[in-house]
Amino acid sequence: MTFVNAVIRTVPLWVGVCFGVMVFSNGECEAKSLSENDLVNVMGPDECGECHKAEVHIWRETRHSTTFKTLTRTKQAKKIAGNMGIKRVKKAEACVACHFTSGYRKNKVKAIAGISCESCHGPAKAWLKIHGDYGGKHVTREQETPEHKAGRLAAIRKSGMIRPGNLYRLASNCYQCHIVSNEKLVNVGGHGSGNDDFELVSWSLGEVRHKFLRSEGKKNEVVDRERQRMLYVVGKALDLEYSLRALAEVTETGTYATAMKARVQRVVNELRTISGVSPIPEVEKILEIILSIDQEHRQEVLSAAADEIAVTTQTLAGTRDGSQLSDLDRMIPQAEQYKGKPGGPPEQLSMHGLLSVAGRLNR
Ligand code: HEC
Ligand code: HEC
Ligand code: HEC
Ligand code: HEC
Repeated sequence: MTFVNAVIRTVPLWVGVCFGVMVFSNGECEAKSLSENDLVNVMGPDECGECHKAEVHIWRETRHSTTFKTLTRTKQAKKIAGNMGIKRVKKAEACVACHFTSGYRKNKVKAIAGISCESCHGPAKAWLKIHGDYGGKHVTREQETPEHKAGRLAAIRKSGMIRPGNLYRLASNCYQCHIVSNEKLVNVGGHGSGNDDFELVSWSLGEVRHKFLRSEGKKNEVVDRERQRMLYVVGKALDLEYSLRALAEVTETGTYATAMKARVQRVVNELRTISGVSPIPEVEKILEIILSIDQEHRQEVLSAAADEIAVTTQTLAGTRDGSQLSDLDRMIPQAEQYKGKPGGPPEQLSMHGLLSVAGRLNR
């Protein structure tokens, strides 16, 4: 992987202008922080609870939710904030972008929750009322007419809702936060560079899991095998895309550069292993893209490679369903490796002592 070393050597030519997190594949520096337009469309997790009681109950027990109360109290947060010259973590965009959900309250932009429903499914104002309406108050899913369904799905598509069907976009969210692509935050702030062991199957099927639609709130289901294969391989491709974007932000030697370089190398090796076990054309293409990066090249080239990988990963996520990928099964993490305990349905959750039991029963 000589190109990575070359990257570090050519550092002085770079201008580090990005702050925050890269967003999608337009190749430009952009913070993940929501635009004005997005902020007015954030409704907050309470709006979802009316119909998604189980999902909201589960979410409240996750670190995504509890970070809202706990983060500012920790010594570590105070230390990082101090190093960064930040006085109030809840008001600092450099922290809010990844730890909180911002929205309008009484005409002011505020941190209104931890990492919440809309952090992953998109600001909801435009789709809240339409996405689960089958054609009137008393119409059930079974009774919805095909015309109504077609219209509803088209309206949802336009509204910017990030649905499970769009695995690329949904899972991009995870990597935008869990790979900390802010050099100053890591080198000066002393923040971690992100979770090295982040992996989409194990990290989304533990405490984060909230799959209740099919059982109508009764059971928190595991996604099926085929979906797990897709999560696994799309997750690795996204990991490479966002590690490359993070590497493209390097301006100096230090913890950040070392961590991102190592991350790119590790993920490339993992993709090579996948390719050895189950040759998937899109994965081959991704390896080709990364291996064709020339030593001479710099930031723009890494970003361009990330963009190319993004397009290929979208094809992978959009055109395959995992049914042909059974060779991957032996690589996919098992239940013992899931990150955190999955929660059970609300009746069990409301009895606090039963929480962990419910989690075990519902595996
Ligand atoms: C008025 C009731 C209602 C509210 C409020 C509501 N939902 Fe839903 N939601 C539904 C129904 C019903 C479905 C199942 C739709 C279907 O069958 O396609 C659903 C499905 C979903 C899905 C899965 C979509 C898919 O394509 O599989 C997501 C994600 C979702 N809702 C997120 C949210 C979020 C986030 C909020 C709050 C911002 C919210 N919902 C508020 C009723 C609601
Ligand atoms: C790019 C996204 C990102 C940004 C920006 C970010 N964090 Fe984090 N932070 C994370 C992730 C992901 C974790 C969990 C990973 C881990 O445990 O190392 C985390 C963990 C932490 C933790 C340890 C967990 C805990 O609750 O005790 C602290 C403290 C923290 N961040 C403080 C901050 C502060 C202060 C800022 C702003 C100066 C900030 N973070 C900005 C992504 C981010
Ligand atoms: C950390 C990101 C994240 C957060 C936060 C999040 N979701 Fe999801 N959600 C997902 C993912 C990923 C899936 C798809 C799981 C799969 O099918 O692979 C999903 C799926 C869903 C589904 C469809 C589940 C099914 O039964 O098929 C609904 C409904 C939903 N989310 C609602 C919500 C609501 C309501 C909240 C807030 C209480 C929320 N989500 C918070 C990531 C998130
Ligand atoms: C908006 C930023 C953001 C997004 C999007 C996001 N996360 Fe997180 N996640 C965090 C932060 C920050 C923490 C650490 C919070 C803390 O401990 O204070 C965290 C913690 C977690 C944890 C708990 C880790 C532990 O050490 O116990 C899991 C599991 C997790 N995230 C999975 C996911 C998955 C899966 C996705 C995508 C479906 C996702 N996250 C999307 C920011 C995010």
